[in-house]
Amino acid sequence: MEEKVGEEQKKSPKRLKWWPDYLLRLSVVFLLVLAAIVYLAITIPVPFMAPEEVPLPDEGGNVPGPEWLFLLFWQGFWFWTGSQKKYLVLMPVGAILFFIVMVFMPYWHKIPLAKIPGLRGLFAKISAMQSGLKKSFLYGLPVFLFGLVLAGAIYKGGHQAKILGCDSCHNPAMGPRQAIPPIDVSKYYFTDRARQIGVGKFRAGKLSTEEEGGKLQIGGAGEAGGYKDADWQMRHMYEPTFTW
Ligand code: HEC
Repeated sequence: MEEKVGEEQKKSPKRLKWWPDYLLRLSVVFLLVLAAIVYLAITIPVPFMAPEEVPLPDEGGNVPGPEWLFLLFWQGFWFWTGSQKKYLVLMPVGAILFFIVMVFMPYWHKIPLAKIPGLRGLFAKISAMQSGLKKSFLYGLPVFLFGLVLAGAIYKGGHQAKILGCDSCHNPAMGPRQAIPPIDVSKYYFTDRARQIGVGKFRAGKLSTEEEGGKLQIGGAGEAGGYKDADWQMRHMYEPTFTW
């Protein structure tokens, strides 16, 4: 083991250190991310001037926002309704698995994939390559692909959400419960709202005639969901002018 480290040192005359080498490089990356966030915040501000300036109810589709990230983990509420509600227990499993993957990210490269017979040659080839951008790219490829899949999933789950239109309806001019909270919030939440979820049947999943090839479809799974349950709340974000 020690010999190996010695060899490494001989090969690369300057060994990179956490400080200053890596930390400075990472800082540059994170400054870029921060700059992108600041840029987005300035160019696409969240409308907050209602009722003086009211956004359109459908505003914010395809506008990246933090909502996209949690919508990803709520997909179960969208797809598992009616008789499929039993699968909702899987949702925390997905989130926990994701958490574990992220926490152990720095250690995944220790998995001895090179021991797998088919891959051994490939790994040997890559490690024999001259260090440079190409080699670094190949080393980073798995993480890059993981990030790409994650970004794709976040986009797919979130881009329809109308995240900037809420003030269109939820503003003080619209009266109680739209922006002004109920007088007794806990009573509202545990009594009124619970009753709405329990008895207020809501026929979700109406697809547009276009989507169904011209056939009007009402009730995708043919089942009615609870008014204001989690599925309703998801639909409220994706299609607020239809589901409210
Ligand atoms: C087209 C108008 C409209 C838009 C746009 C809209 N809402 Fe609503 N929302 C309503 C109505 C109407 C209700 C039902 C209010 C009630 O029960 O008194 C409601 C209810 C809700 C509730 C449930 C309140 C409860 O009873 O617990 C939440 C949460 C909510 N909206 C959040 C949002 C968010 C977040 C957005 C933006 C992504 C949004 N709404 C956009 C009209 C709208």
